[in-house]
Amino acid sequence: MTFLERLQWRYATKKMNPAKAVPAAAVERIVEAIRLAPSSRGLQPYELVVVWDPAVRAKLRAAANGQSQIEDATCVVVFASWASYTPERVNAYFDRVAEVRGAGESVEKARAATLALASAASTSLDGSHAAKQAYLGLGVGLAAAALEGVDSTPMEGFDPAKVEEILGLSARGLRATALMAIGHRDEASDWLLALPKVRRTRASFVTDVRA
Ligand SMILES: Cc1cc2nc3c(=O)[nH]c(=O)nc-3n(C[C@H](O)[C@H](O)[C@H](O)COP(=O)(O)O)c2cc1C
Repeated sequence: MTFLERLQWRYATKKMNPAKAVPAAAVERIVEAIRLAPSSRGLQPYELVVVWDPAVRAKLRAAANGQSQIEDATCVVVFASWASYTPERVNAYFDRVAEVRGAGESVEKARAATLALASAASTSLDGSHAAKQAYLGLGVGLAAAALEGVDSTPMEGFDPAKVEEILGLSARGLRATALMAIGHRDEASDWLLALPKVRRTRASFVTDVRA
């Protein structure tokens, strides 16, 4: 299948088959795709919490309107975005840049500029900015799963405060932004499978500006 055929194939799975596990190596490739997703300034202002433990997933399900995918999937990826761009986080990123690319004046200039922006009174680098980057990771993750022939459900139908409490995220300065259940569709009982994908027409979605 081509990439576009894979995107047609994927859908936000409503019923997963708990008897069909996704191999750990496939999950790891999806996680790696998310790690490779771009982010504003490269800061990757979110972390992934991959929940395999069925007991923890039972609690997450209760915090997510009882959505069955959370328990029937192989695992659930929690996108936990930074509540704020602290100096420690910004410094850790530029330390990493220096480690990978080598230290130098340009890295330090970028570090100073980002630290100044992050600490400004009305900064654009806030929790909302971090959450946007997490959603970009989610999008890459959904596409990566589709390429693997693995099903997934993106979810924001959950109580963030409860998820943060279950996973101890607040204490780490993280916010539960989105969930992604990874599993295999239950072909026999997923009501959504029979319905065609709904998308706006190209004409209503795209404006071409040509010379
Ligand atoms: C950010 C986001 C949050 C979503 N939250 C939920 C959710 O909590 N539960 C669910 O079953 N589907 C959820 N969806 C699935 C969307 O309803 C679905 O992607 C959309 O209707 C398009 O359909 P398709 O993904 O099946 O092509 C979510 C999708 C996105 C992108």
